[in-house]
Amino acid sequence: MSNVTQGAVLGKDDPVLRTDGLKKSFGGLTATDDVSFEVERGTITGLIGPNGAGKSTLFNLVSGFYEPDEGSVSVNGTDVTDHEPHEIVGEGMVRTFQTPRKPEGMSVREAMLVGPQGQTGESILPLFTSSSTVRREERQSLERAEEMLERFEIADLATQSATDLSGGQMKLVELARAMMSDPDLLLLDEPVAGVNPVLAQKLAGFIEELHAEGQSFLIIEHDMSFIMRLADPIIVLNQGSVLVEGPPDAVRSDDRVVDAYLGGPA
Ligand SMILES: Nc1ncnc2c1ncn2[C@@H]1O[C@H](COP(=O)(O)OP(=O)(O)OP(=O)(O)O)[C@@H](O)[C@H]1O
Ligand SMILES: [Mg+2]
Repeated sequence: MSNVTQGAVLGKDDPVLRTDGLKKSFGGLTATDDVSFEVERGTITGLIGPNGAGKSTLFNLVSGFYEPDEGSVSVNGTDVTDHEPHEIVGEGMVRTFQTPRKPEGMSVREAMLVGPQGQTGESILPLFTSSSTVRREERQSLERAEEMLERFEIADLATQSATDLSGGQMKLVELARAMMSDPDLLLLDEPVAGVNPVLAQKLAGFIEELHAEGQSFLIIEHDMSFIMRLADPIIVLNQGSVLVEGPPDAVRSDDRVVDAYLGGPA
């Protein structure tokens, strides 16, 4: 008997993220169509599917970068549909980008202090102020930044210009920045794409450590050995819809998934 479920498993015990019927079209192209799924708290949930399946669009919808045509999103039980990205960070969910933009004219430490790309709102750090509260918050942010730089073993990059980072270093900085606000759920869009195998192992190790401490993840990744090792369950998206959800071994051997990747009938 297969333990892969057609569609997504809903009604989980404690979902940190839930979507209901998310739909997004671009002109005549439906990128996501009636997507409903949940991420159970404490899991590393994988989101896989062929190129163009709608994975990144789904991240853009749940993180407030795109407005859905239909459907809703909730984080920790709070409806965040149509909220701004920084408001969604405030509810406890942070995302990274498939192609991160290098912060211009900033050191890595400064990039840490402005927080995750596109999700920090207007004024995260007022630069000149006499308010002791703000000064205390600045000090706390600085401490957190140093802690994250140490944790992800990039403290030696702190004063380096962010524009000079390699692709792999940038992925580590992205993870560290995303962790600045201590989110309940981290969304990672292809964390090891274009990363050398040694660094990919290192990233997998960091994700496993965070997970062991209770961190929840939703991870998009094409590297099958990486995602199959880390994630359970895995949700498969195909042509804008959830095809199946299940544990990695069952998903890997499911004919519908194999067909989707080969471009055959789902
Ligand atoms: N802003 C946009 N404008 C027009 N079309 C878009 C836009 N964003 C995504 N699409 C289209 O929506 C579909 C889904 O794209 P999406 O980037 O979500 O796929 P994906 O599953 O992340 O693919 P990949 O694995 O290649 O990253 C594609 O056909 C894409 O061209
Ligand atoms: Mg994508």
